[in-house]
Amino acid sequence: MLNAIEQKEGKVFILDQSKLPHEVDLIECKSWMDVAWCIRELKIRGAPAIGIAAAMGVALGAQSARAGSVESLSRALEPVCEGLLSTRPTAVNIKWAVDRMRARLASLGHESVGGARETLWREARSILEEDIKINRTIGQWGAQFIKDGDVVLTHCNAGALATGGYGTATAAIFVATEQGKKIHVIVDETRPVLQGARLTAFEMKEAGIPMTLITDNSAGALMRRGEIDLAIVGTDRTTRNGDVANKIGTYTVAVLCKEHGLPFYVAAPLSSIDFSMASGSMIPIEERDPEEVASLAGRRIAPYGVNARNMAFDVTPAKYVTAIITELGVFKPGELRKLAPRKTERTKKAKTSPGGKKRNRPGRS
Ligand code: MRU
Repeated sequence: MLNAIEQKEGKVFILDQSKLPHEVDLIECKSWMDVAWCIRELKIRGAPAIGIAAAMGVALGAQSARAGSVESLSRALEPVCEGLLSTRPTAVNIKWAVDRMRARLASLGHESVGGARETLWREARSILEEDIKINRTIGQWGAQFIKDGDVVLTHCNAGALATGGYGTATAAIFVATEQGKKIHVIVDETRPVLQGARLTAFEMKEAGIPMTLITDNSAGALMRRGEIDLAIVGTDRTTRNGDVANKIGTYTVAVLCKEHGLPFYVAAPLSSIDFSMASGSMIPIEERDPEEVASLAGRRIAPYGVNARNMAFDVTPAKYVTAIITELGVFKPGELRKLAPRKTERTKKAKTSPGGKKRNRPGRS
């Protein structure tokens, strides 16, 4: 499987996802501004992946920042951090990663500037490596909800390409497959920029998992015919009450699941959970260029001069969410508060492995 982002010999390479699946092109990022451009232009996308990219952007910024001390490096990096934070507003992972880089720098006592640059470079790599491990754990927790023979609907791309590797929603699919379950994946094409058709379909094909691509407006009809068993998606920001922001159209899928009595699962690493926000109404929703809606794969479809609106994300209220699958276990939306940072250590001790207690295993709704 292709990697969304890599750090090599002082450079950052980003796979240009806007060209997938037909062209594989790596963009060499020489500065944090190159990274910010890649995030804004969806060369790299998916909440965990853009968080990792932001961390690498900070590390790149540190390489070129003029500073005589760790303190002045920290000051010099603030515009870099702000620049990266301004790229895309909805995914909380960017803030999570930038804050972690800031905290790492702040933790350095009397280190040399060179040493601090090295530390930031390594911290960005750790964020990537940890993300892959977290995703595998999410996959192990999530696979229990997929039975042999199930047909699983997913929306957008919460796959390897959206993360450091393995994906979040797709991790459950990959682990279920590794467990020998025969599953079939229904992939929403995901207008306007077709992350489902271009990226999830590509990943499923690469992994040899049987799949069917559908238009976004087909899911209800398939559910009504009994041809879908469950839905699983990723998230860009989930608030502490369990409201879930994800790619536009996710809310529709969740409401359809409720109507048809199907479970709707959200795979969410802790880096995508915003404990500072009480509910989804506080989440900033990115509005992108209307041209993406008026066009299809770069070709103008709608007449010139018509209005178009391009909300990139929507918020699914917690009441539609069956369970949220994190690296620490599976939680009902109302239980997420338990994971808020000051309680995280205690929760970690209580639940250490995916094979553990049943308490955090909500069944089908
Ligand atoms: O606009 P995108 O492609 O960045 O949107 C991505 C999604 O909505 C994903 O579902 C989400 O980031 C979760 S990725 C594990």
